[in-house]
Amino acid sequence: MLFMPYAIKKMNSNFKAEIAIIGGTGLYQLEGFKELERQKLMTRWGEPSSELILSRYKGKEVIFLTRHGTQHNIPPHKVNYRANLWALKECGVKEVIAVAAVGGITDMMSPETIVIPDQIIDYTSDRKHTYFDDELEHVTHIDFTEPYSNKLRKQLLVAAGNAVDRGTYAVMQGPRLESAAEIKKLKQDGADIVGMTGMPEASLAREIEIDYACCALSVNWAAGCAGTIKIEHKEMQKIVDKGMLQINSILKKAIDT
Ligand code: HPA
Repeated sequence: MLFMPYAIKKMNSNFKAEIAIIGGTGLYQLEGFKELERQKLMTRWGEPSSELILSRYKGKEVIFLTRHGTQHNIPPHKVNYRANLWALKECGVKEVIAVAAVGGITDMMSPETIVIPDQIIDYTSDRKHTYFDDELEHVTHIDFTEPYSNKLRKQLLVAAGNAVDRGTYAVMQGPRLESAAEIKKLKQDGADIVGMTGMPEASLAREIEIDYACCALSVNWAAGCAGTIKIEHKEMQKIVDKGMLQINSILKKAIDT
């Protein structure tokens, strides 16, 4: 590894886990997991979005981190993705399950559908998207042909039972939602779902050799899809609340395999 991070607090050597969950909109804590300890970390890339919570489920340790902060006050373009992934790496994490609320574009991605995407198109800009930035010994180009870990994807699919297997996640800069014309273009590009946080999270994980997969919940039809005239926040919220309970139980099953 090229860079040495540092922790503000001297890290407790028991604060370790091989698997981590990054919670997105609507998932701010893990239900049914036993909380063991919390740590506020600092990395050379800055501060992670929230404290890291070390939890246990059926004898397995898991670290939980909320991407948008516990008060949901960090918008997608302001998330310090580098600090988040780096802090997890510091704690020995080898696998990350990322949870995300997304908009559905193609027919199978109706609201309430859970999808385990297999591809990404990155439309974001102006995000700190790489660890290979400066002080380099040599230039590194990671392979990103398959952005998600197939092993983790399969684990999630088995745990979910009825999730959609595969889908291309278009990652937009946000924080605004898209115009209908933008969604039409994304569909022509081959996108099935649209969200704002899938990148650079996935590629940063790859850069530091963390296996990464995404468990996405469609919470609305994307702009202009299925006759959508306006995306109603209230409707989205209802689906988030219900869907995240379902995702919480999928996470438990996936951890327990
Ligand atoms: N667009 C972008 N991000 C989203 C959406 C959407 O329609 N729904 C949830 N996150």
